[in-house]
Amino acid sequence: MSDSEKLKWGILGAARINERLMPAIVEAANAELVAIASRRAGAGAQTLAQYAPDRNDVRAYDDLDALLNDSDVHAVYLPMANHEHAEWTHRAIDRGKHVLCEKPMALTAADIDAIQAAARKRNVKVMEGFMYRFHPQHERVQEIIRSGVIGEVKSVRATYSFMMRPARLYRLQENTARGGGAMWDIGCYAIHSARMFFDSPAVTVTAVSKYVESGADSATSGIIDFGGGKFAHFDFSFERARRSEYEIIGTKGGIKCHTVWQLPGDIPVISWWTEAGQTCEERLPPSNHFRLEIEHFSDCVLNNLPPRLSLDDAKANCEIIVAALKSAAEGKTVNLSG
Ligand SMILES: NC(=O)c1ccc[n+]([C@@H]2O[C@H](COP(=O)([O-])OP(=O)(O)OC[C@H]3O[C@@H](n4cnc5c(N)ncnc54)[C@H](OP(=O)(O)O)[C@@H]3O)[C@@H](O)[C@H]2O)c1
Repeated sequence: MSDSEKLKWGILGAARINERLMPAIVEAANAELVAIASRRAGAGAQTLAQYAPDRNDVRAYDDLDALLNDSDVHAVYLPMANHEHAEWTHRAIDRGKHVLCEKPMALTAADIDAIQAAARKRNVKVMEGFMYRFHPQHERVQEIIRSGVIGEVKSVRATYSFMMRPARLYRLQENTARGGGAMWDIGCYAIHSARMFFDSPAVTVTAVSKYVESGADSATSGIIDFGGGKFAHFDFSFERARRSEYEIIGTKGGIKCHTVWQLPGDIPVISWWTEAGQTCEERLPPSNHFRLEIEHFSDCVLNNLPPRLSLDDAKANCEIIVAALKSAAEGKTVNLSG
């Protein structure tokens, strides 16, 4: 692929997650990294030296607006702190940039509506960065469901956790209204991955949380009712052993995806069983979902295709998160319909 057929990317923020996304942009077949910016002097250059040491040609700005004013940057990857996502997505859209924003897209559904309106007006593409969805293991799970072996899907249990290390404690320094805590950091995966298996919208959500002094949740558990006896159980925490898994129970059997947070080189494992006595463990080839996410979004921009993860999807996820936060804070079930 010639350079003129590649999407030119800039990275807005010298965040830790660049450890995964910067190499993904560098390695993607249809992408080219042209710039990174940070508000901290030298931090962009340092990130480049760390994660793309061979790319001396990439510009490193000490000013986020300088990157947004760079006409060579056509798409922005936005890994800023959660409460900054909506504001900086707007700023990027205003400069005519396409935006891949880290999860969560925004902290309110109204913010996502405004982003969608702005993106339509400027004719740019915006996608929420749920990288896990680009791993082929979830398509394999959908294939197994479509084959009918587990019958009709009735419930999903999505469990995500890890023991918070001191270096990551900043994730607990903001309260939930400012995007801090486990709900916005990892609960968004639990809710997003569970939603994948229901075709009706959520009706109610009921949650309980444990909070730390700042008002951030450090552990949350709950149930989403999708109507007709279909439920999703979510459980996520910064205070438990590392897990990123979901289990689907149907009328005739079940499927488990053992590790959603795949790192390059990990072997994905899916197991399924039926009441009739079949059991199967499938080991899939490793895939880099970070690179696949970048290649997908680049393809959407280059060929004017709709991103697989729509802003309507981001809004539906956000509405459940906000309702779950309210449920946990007020100790009652929250209605989502209407
Ligand atoms: N998809 C995934 O697998 C994944 C994994 C982890 C996180 N995330 C998401 O990615 C986003 C970033 O998360 P993160 O944990 O990587 O964030 P982070 O390291 O805290 O960085 C967030 C922002 O804070 C600033 N910053 C970074 N280090 C700093 C420091 N030492 N002192 C002051 N400011 C600093 C950076 O902006 P400046 O460079 O402008 O200062 C950066 O853009 C979040 O939205 C998170 O939800 C996604």
